[in-house]
Amino acid sequence: MKIRVPATSANLGPGFDSCGIALSRYLTIEIGPETRTWQINHQLGSEIPSDEKNLLIKTALDLAPTLRPHKITMISDIPIARGLGSSSSVIVAGIELANRLGNLGMTPQQKVAYATKIEGHPDNVAPAICGDFVVASYNNNEVNFVEHTFPDCDVIAFIPDHELLTSESRGVLPKELSYHDAVKASSIGNVMIAAILNGNLPLAGKMMERDILHESHRQHLVPHLKKIRTLCKTYGGYGSFLSGAGPTVLVLTPPENTEKLVTALKGLNHEALIDVLSIEREGVQIF
Ligand code: HSE
Repeated sequence: MKIRVPATSANLGPGFDSCGIALSRYLTIEIGPETRTWQINHQLGSEIPSDEKNLLIKTALDLAPTLRPHKITMISDIPIARGLGSSSSVIVAGIELANRLGNLGMTPQQKVAYATKIEGHPDNVAPAICGDFVVASYNNNEVNFVEHTFPDCDVIAFIPDHELLTSESRGVLPKELSYHDAVKASSIGNVMIAAILNGNLPLAGKMMERDILHESHRQHLVPHLKKIRTLCKTYGGYGSFLSGAGPTVLVLTPPENTEKLVTALKGLNHEALIDVLSIEREGVQIF
């Protein structure tokens, strides 16, 4: 049995800690035979544990403590600590591992609720579970979410060659926001979501670039964001935003402008990886 979980991008600008999309990069877990102790074969580096200390197994055992150990192969093309939901993908795979091996029969609602408690916010885990576009709210210890189709477009990822830890990127956010700014932030986010639901990507892209909740506070950690935004305007993209806590920046574009944008982005930084992705319509899958 194999479990596949898509990469995700959280926030989409003003949808901070609430909106997310699933993307066409994946974590795949292959469940092998039972063994005496958990063994995780992976090529993700020596810092990632290969035993029951791996986040995958910790998550699965928290949910189903009596699971029998198995040999597992873990393959991922989601870069670590780049803002593309790598840790969420492991958490979601761990929940699905427990769900399948432990016959828990979990609903998507239960999976999203459990994953959100671990992650602290739903904007990566919800689209990793449900696919496509998800708008979620986590408060009073309860997650409510709505899944919807995201309009067709190309998604160009500008992935810097350095990591940015979510903890560091959240550490620079302000503790408080004025009433005036909260109302403004809410209206920008509301129009962004309504425009997505209407299939109006030019308007959604415009709103994505007007976030006042997090991007401006993180600007000094991601100086490339401003330059990418200028290129996005020049070469006909719909809009750009910091993917999750960064450092990756996503540019949404009509396919006819993808090539020009990719060439321009490559000229910006030769160390960064420029990847053309698409919206993944499916969430976690079993093969
Ligand atoms: N909404 C989160 C943030 C996503 O921007 O910090 C990253 O975990």
